[in-house]
Amino acid sequence: MESIQAAMTARSAIRSWAEGLELIELVRATHRAGWLEHLRGETTVAELAAAHSASAEQVSDVLAVLASAGVVRPGEQTGSFRLSPDFDALVAGASGVDMTAVLDAVELARDQVARAVRPSDQEPGIDGAQALVLARDWGVRPTPGARQLIGMLYEALPEFRARLESGGPLLDVGSGVGGALLTGLTLFDKLHAVGVESVPEVAAECRRRAETVGVTDRVDIRTMDARALRDESAFSVCFWAQPFFSQDVRADTLAAIFRALRPNGLLLVQELFPPQTAQDKPTARTRLDRLFFTQRHVPFGLSAEELAAEGRAAGFQDAQVTDSPLGRLVLMRKPDC
Ligand SMILES: C[S@@+](CC[C@H](N)C(=O)[O-])C[C@H]1O[C@@H](n2cnc3c(N)ncnc32)[C@H](O)[C@@H]1O
Repeated sequence: MESIQAAMTARSAIRSWAEGLELIELVRATHRAGWLEHLRGETTVAELAAAHSASAEQVSDVLAVLASAGVVRPGEQTGSFRLSPDFDALVAGASGVDMTAVLDAVELARDQVARAVRPSDQEPGIDGAQALVLARDWGVRPTPGARQLIGMLYEALPEFRARLESGGPLLDVGSGVGGALLTGLTLFDKLHAVGVESVPEVAAECRRRAETVGVTDRVDIRTMDARALRDESAFSVCFWAQPFFSQDVRADTLAAIFRALRPNGLLLVQELFPPQTAQDKPTARTRLDRLFFTQRHVPFGLSAEELAAEGRAAGFQDAQVTDSPLGRLVLMRKPDC
């Protein structure tokens, strides 16, 4: 009797987790089938059913689930629905963050988590297509919304911002699809930059996006490992997307950045996750994030203070930690002589 009760408790735990999984699949299916696009405008059940060859009952049931999850809300007309403003922004993708990128990244995380149970001689690694999924999820497109967001970050760093404004040059290490890099180039029209990205598929997407926003004459996107950078005293500022660099390449990457910066050059890094205090009980979300990172040998959740110490070990000085709307930032300086 006791064991059946225990098993039932475990079963309900699994069922409650399954809710999120099923909602994602419903969102994915309705997105693929074009229902979500249709729901960007107010639509009745009958209109949606007719447009997608579905029965009114089926549409009504699906919309009821999506409404309870906050994806859609009732429209002004009785029996009509439309996307909630948040989901409308995501489906529109005009903000620079889009539904396909988010759903692909969720799928990748699922795949990676499943590989946590593997013999220790099998590396989970990610291939070029998966790296692109990750980079698309992290990298916003250089839209007005993204400019506002990244602009707020630079507001918190007046010296760094002034250097970008007067032309840089900027070294962007771990450019991904160019979220920070291309947004910066569209914010500051005198800025010149070099982006460094090791995955060819990701670098190619960054170049395509650079063309779309018309900044190719001011940026050189290099497909290479950052450790192989040979530039010396060439850049006035550097942004390093440190949360994605594995432990074994970090010291050499910092050494290459140090060389590439001019004396008095500035290095900016971002703390990705706010540090946990001793009182914080890690949630399953935090544990899963940790698993995702550590599987790829990327140190998880380095604090601003740990990032400053890493920079100091590479020769940087005067580390300053600044709060910003995008979390804590660490600004460090290459000594003047
Ligand atoms: C996901 S992106 C970060 C976001 C990006 N800075 C943006 O603003 O959109 C981090 C990138 O660093 C790249 N990367 C990781 N290790 C690298 C290395 N050793 N050299 C160059 N790029 C590297 C990864 O391939 C990944 O695309």
